[in-house]
Parts: sequence; C-alpha cells; structure tokens
Amino acid sequence: MCGIIGRVGDGNALEPLLTGLENLEYRGYDSAGIAVQNGSGIDVQKRSGKVDELKESIGDATLDGKIGIGHTRWSTHGPPTDENAHPHTDGTKDVAVVHNGIIENYVELKSRLAGYGHEFTSDTDTEVIPHLIQFYLDEGLTNEAAFRRAVEELEGSYAVTAMLSGEHVLYAARQGSPLVVGMEDGEYFLASDVPAFLEYTDSVVYLEDGDVVIVDEDGVEFTDLAGNPITRESETVEWDPEQAGKGEYDHFMLKEIHEQPTALAQALEGRIDTTNERIALADFQPGTFEAIENVQFVACGTSYHAALYGSLTLNQAGIHSSALLANEYSVSAPPTDENTLVVAVTQSGETADTLSALRQANEAGATTVTVTNVVGSTAAREADEALFIRAGPEIGVAATKTFSSQAVMLTLLGQRIVGDQHGEPSADLGVLLPELAGMPDALEEMLERSDADAIASRYANSQSYFFIGRGLGFPVALEGALKFKEITYEHAEGFASGELKHGPLALVTPDTPVFAVFTGEEDEKTLKNAAEAQTRGAPVIAVCPAGHRAVDVADAHLEIPETESDLSGLLANVQLQLVSYYAADLLDRSIDKPRNLAKSVTVE
Ligand code: F6R
Repeated sequence: MCGIIGRVGDGNALEPLLTGLENLEYRGYDSAGIAVQNGSGIDVQKRSGKVDELKESIGDATLDGKIGIGHTRWSTHGPPTDENAHPHTDGTKDVAVVHNGIIENYVELKSRLAGYGHEFTSDTDTEVIPHLIQFYLDEGLTNEAAFRRAVEELEGSYAVTAMLSGEHVLYAARQGSPLVVGMEDGEYFLASDVPAFLEYTDSVVYLEDGDVVIVDEDGVEFTDLAGNPITRESETVEWDPEQAGKGEYDHFMLKEIHEQPTALAQALEGRIDTTNERIALADFQPGTFEAIENVQFVACGTSYHAALYGSLTLNQAGIHSSALLANEYSVSAPPTDENTLVVAVTQSGETADTLSALRQANEAGATTVTVTNVVGSTAAREADEALFIRAGPEIGVAATKTFSSQAVMLTLLGQRIVGDQHGEPSADLGVLLPELAGMPDALEEMLERSDADAIASRYANSQSYFFIGRGLGFPVALEGALKFKEITYEHAEGFASGELKHGPLALVTPDTPVFAVFTGEEDEKTLKNAAEAQTRGAPVIAVCPAGHRAVDVADAHLEIPETESDLSGLLANVQLQLVSYYAADLLDRSIDKPRNLAKSVTVE
C-alpha cells in the first residue's frame, strides 16, 4: 500500500506530481505529501487526509522546481497525522524520502542514529531512511554512495525514492514492493504503478528486487545494489489514460462494473476456439498438467472468492482441488510437492499474503501459476507461469471487473487441467465455450436492464444484509457480502444456503433482507432455505433468470440471463455489485476509497 511518485524533467514538477498522487490514491488515502527542489533547498508540503486536502493546503504557495517526489499513505507505523505523512526528511532537510513497504529493522536503526544525535519527529519506520543517508553523507560519502550504503542496511520490503538537496537527481531502490520507471524524452518518472504517469508516457520499465536506479534529465541508469550496470527492457503499456479516468461515471466503481463486458471480451480474446472446441492458453501446451495430482488456489479477499469459484468448478469436474486463504497458508498448507499445482490469484500481483504463499509453494517444488491483472507484478514474475486477465486498470478499491475476469480465466485454466487429466477435452466444452463467448453480450444486456438501484433503495436502512448461495453460488454469496460491507459499512454476511439453518437463522428478522443466488445447482434446496428466512419475516431477493420458480416465491428479484450453471454465478455477482454500489451511494459513502482500506495490501 502507499503510492509513491518521483519526477525529473523540464518545467515545474508540481502538476505531474499531484496528478500522479491523484492517480495513485487507490493505494492509500490517509495522508499525502510532496517535496520539490526549489533552487535553494527542498520544500516539503504534507498533511493528513486525501490528496485534495493537500492541494488545498498548497493553495497559491509557490512550489517551484523541476524535480520532486510525492506520496499517498496507508498507515502501518503511526496514525495518519501531518508528522507521519511522507516525504520524510533528515534533521537538516537536505534529504527527502518517500517509501512504500515496511522497514523491519527500523527500531535498531533509529536507536543507533539517535545515539549519534539524530532527532526523529514521526512514529514511522520510513523516517530512518533520510537520517541514515544523512549519516553516511556526514561520513564523507557521495550522494549516490550514501544512498546505496543506507539501502544496504534496510531489512524488510521497500520501494524507496530519495532526493538530495542541490542536484537534479532521484535515487530509487526496490525490494519486495513495486516500482516502475516511466520514460519520455527529457522527462522521467518513478512510481508504484503505471496510472501515476500514464498521461505523460506509456513507455515503462518494471524494476526487479535488488534494482537501484539513478534518474536525471539525461536518462535512467539501471544498476544492482553494488552499482554494477544491469539491463532492463522497456515495455509499452497498452492502457490509455482515458481507461484510467472516470469518464461519464460518478465513481470508478460504477465505471468498472460497466466495463465488465469489455473486460471479459479481452480475457477471452484468442483463448477460446468455439469451432474446434479448444482453449488456447499461451504457454500451456496440451499435456502440461498431466502429472498434476491436486490443485491448490491461494488468494485473499475478493480474489479468494474467485479462487473458490475456480476450485469448486475443478472439484465438480472430478479434479482434487482446494481454495486456501493465502494468509493461512504458512500455518496450514496441505501437503505440497512437485505434483501439486499452486495457482496464486491476485489482481494486483503484489498482495504480501499471496506472495508469501506463492514463495512457500515454490520452495516446496510445486508448479506455480499466477492469475493476475498486472504485467510485471511480483507474483507474475515469481510464479513459473503467469496468466493475465487483461481487465484494464481497476482504480476503485473494491474489486469488481477483476473478479469477473479472474473467474473466467480460472474457468479456462480449469478446463485445460480437466482436458490434460482426462486425456481429452471435457465433454461439456461444446456447450460451455459458446456460452462463454456470449458472456460479454449477456452482461451488457443485463447491465442495461438492471433494477439494482430500485432494490438498493427499497431495502436501504436495514439492520443486516445476508447473501446465500449453493455450489458456485456460494462464492458469489461471500463476494456479494464482502462488497456490500466494504463500501456501505453496513453489516453483511455471506453463507452457503444450507448453512443458514445451522446458526445464522437466529439473526434473521424482518430487518435482514436475504439475497438468494440461484445458479441452477439444487435450486429447490436454496429456495427452501430462503423460505425458512422468509417465514421468520426476512424479505427475500432472488437473483435468478426470468421465469425461475424463485421469482414467484421471493419478495423481489434481480434478473440474470439464462446460461450454464458454471457461468450464471458470474452474472448474479454483477447484479450484487450494483446493489452494493447503489446502497453505498444512497448512504453517501466514499465509494472508490472506503475507509481503512487500500487497493493493494503489501503487508502481512
Ligand atoms: C475487495 C478487494 C480485496 C482484494 C484483496 C486481494 O474488494 O479488492 O479483498 O481482493 O486485498 O487483492 P489482490 O487481488 O490484489 O491480491
């Protein structure tokens, strides 16, 4: 979490820095700050609150300089106060630093530096970095050598960018937290993620762990920590700046919900052949998964729900698989060896819990695959293979289109595994592939006709919201509840339909609407479970196709197009995304940046 930006070039750095921070705010929005070189020294402006508040506080003040750094924070060490906001400086204010990650040995470093008279003004781990650089400058090292020496001493994870007074140079290092370089003639950027500078350049280099870069107006020098030159290839990013903007929508979340038809079309492009009933996944030749004896999916949050979806489809096809919370994996991983396939599902590719599970699986000798949206992400690089979901930038903190694209990718991957294990494509492929190909249109039509806004206002101000589903409807119920609580701040829970009667029913009152997802898997049983809640006074909202029996029984319904049971949960999920969105809008919540959360969680 936390977004960092650095910029070197001609003209004032203020605007590109503030634009960068706005585009990175999804990574953290507790506090924000910038520092620029003003000719005689370093000017720092920082404060708690969002980037807008920082902009207001800067007002008409002249912050003039061609080079600068900025930061938007999601607090880990110390509350979101003005003092704890980045950039942090040393006592002399000659060194300014922004950092994303955690410096694990900061307590030792701080007490050592305090012993030399360094005084600290924040509770953060980051503040030791400018002090450490200053310490080595005092020892007589050059700026570059002092930066390298300081970085050598850091333990933990970091993407760090430093600026030293009196020169137009940025120094940056990466270990465990993302950092990408943007390059345009005479203008260079460092940032946690591409959208930070997409309006200025689409030519990028993703840094790797252990990389140190030195950036000035003449270019970028790529080195390892010891200073040896290294080669890093540049890539052209295919996202355009408009994709990263809100367009006609009030919120990124609503825009991203409506982008799902396109996202799914992109995920499927070139990967399914309906005529020959084949699935082509770039690096997986037929037979790749022949020796696999079991499949483990590891993920967190919404990605975990997509992982559960993937795992259930495999189990239903007779392949032994499990979906595991990545943050539990280190204490409870099932037996894992070279015949295990571990699939890390992570839209950002940077979630620390998921990376840690992936590393554990790599060490155990498993075959590993990452399913992600971010090319160049750590998870994509550390797994044996990466499958990209191609959903385009997702800025809203609540994951929407990435869930749908992940679930579709996992369906494709699952079918490839089934094909390899059974020596022939699944018999269902002839039915499934045309339905998959039709998903973008089905979704488009459903989005146009959705009544989710009316349902949201009809049940607004309830005490609690329950979501139930069976089979592939179960992960959808979990995801429906997560989305609802995440952006409305109201109490919501997801259950397997059959579980309702084993305890949660005690909570059911006329003030607990129950959203029941019907995917065509034992729907009669789900209908009975919903009726049990209804008998206790709870309104039931069925999410099902037109003409389904549930429509007559339920108090209200949200219609989904008829499709295969493997896919109808995905359509139901989109209706539930819309209900959460409209309910949060009625409550006037901070939809794109829900309190206490960040898009990418890079701490365990
Ligand atoms: C919820 C949400 C989170 C993420 C989770 C994992 O809307 O977005 O629950 O799904 O933090 O993130 P990734 O997918 O980046 O690993």
